[in-house]
Amino acid sequence: MSKPQSILFVCLGNICRSPLSEEIAKHYAHQYGLEIQVDSCGTGDWHVGEAPCADSIKIAQQHGLDISHQKARTITSQDIQDYDLIIALDDNNLRDLKAMGAQNVKKLGRYAHHGEDVPDPYFFDGFEGFEAVYTMIDESVKALFAQELDTTI
Ligand code: 4NP
Repeated sequence: MSKPQSILFVCLGNICRSPLSEEIAKHYAHQYGLEIQVDSCGTGDWHVGEAPCADSIKIAQQHGLDISHQKARTITSQDIQDYDLIIALDDNNLRDLKAMGAQNVKKLGRYAHHGEDVPDPYFFDGFEGFEAVYTMIDESVKALFAQELDTTI
């Protein structure tokens, strides 16, 4: 199978998990010199136009990444046609994307975390837990690049 030229990360609100995934993937694409299109969006529309949540901005910043410029948007049927690879952050996202007809969809946790969901930090009590979510996304994106794009870590 040919390597994906475009990757879309999808969570529920597009304010906590998928913005981190997008920026981490852009960071690795740059590091590996890959010219791939990377974006993120949500299945829901509650936060359209908003910046990522403050705790995701903070954890990204602690790892040297700036996600504060991102703006939440909702997935469209055009996205499903356009993107070579769509990455769901949890089982609910995966189910919703398949219900929209996406076939090119995989769950992020399959790459490094035995298919586990990336837990939704929106429902966490405070900042605690964001480091674990960041680490899980970082390890999984790195492994995704190795498996889908043949990068060596
Ligand atoms: P995310 O987190 O899917 O990681 O962006 C959420 C953000 C907002 C909501 C749910 C999840 N919400 O219900 O508003």
